[in-house]
Amino acid sequence: NKIKEFQKDLLSWYDANKKPLPWRQTTEPYKIWISEIMSQQTQVETVIPYFERFMKKYPTVESLAQADDTELLKLWEGLGYYSRARNLKIAAQEVVNEYNGKFPDNLKEILSLRGIGPYTAAAIASISFDLAEPAIDGNLMRVTSRIFELECDISKSSSRKIFDEHLRTLVSKKRPGDFNQGLMDLGSLVCSPKKPKCETCPLNKYCGAVADGKQLNYPVKTKK
Ligand code: ADE
Ligand code: SF4
Repeated sequence: NKIKEFQKDLLSWYDANKKPLPWRQTTEPYKIWISEIMSQQTQVETVIPYFERFMKKYPTVESLAQADDTELLKLWEGLGYYSRARNLKIAAQEVVNEYNGKFPDNLKEILSLRGIGPYTAAAIASISFDLAEPAIDGNLMRVTSRIFELECDISKSSSRKIFDEHLRTLVSKKRPGDFNQGLMDLGSLVCSPKKPKCETCPLNKYCGAVADGKQLNYPVKTKK
């Protein structure tokens, strides 16, 4: 059927074109979590050396829970949004104290950790635990709004539900983490904001916007 074909086309593209990121060599929730927090508001390419240094210094959730604040913030220098680093340490302490050092394996508990919102929780759930949760970030909203020609305004928080409903029907039950990361890489490498490469896009036969020549009309966004 059409959904299976869509998943196959995206996952084949991902297998051949994915970005070589160090945290893609593992599904360890601790590492996926750190990589996702670092990648908020920072390009993944920039994150790589920070991620490598962080894992050398804090290889486990226990080591992060006991981190020296000054050293932790020093490692974070250049990434900005220092509250993210402070929240990481607090969440690490939550994992150590409330979950015996074992990262929780369900969406609700992951979402309850300090500094982890719906996007990050879904990314960890799908990548580390194979849960079929759509990880809705800016890239996924752009790609999805173009494919389905969604008119909802992405700067409104109420739009999240619309994206969730559309993506939930599509996300691969077998490879949800790769499905999400496939859409992230596609949004970054192919379905870019200003010059989408629709001729070579693996999803062009499913895309409403390209059929109508309206790629640049999406996503709809009022606030700038
Ligand atoms: N941006 C944030 N997380 C990412 C991931 N896991 N892969 C690609 N881009 C991302
Ligand atoms: Fe994006 Fe173009 Fe692919 Fe549609 S066909 S998903 S607009 S790159």
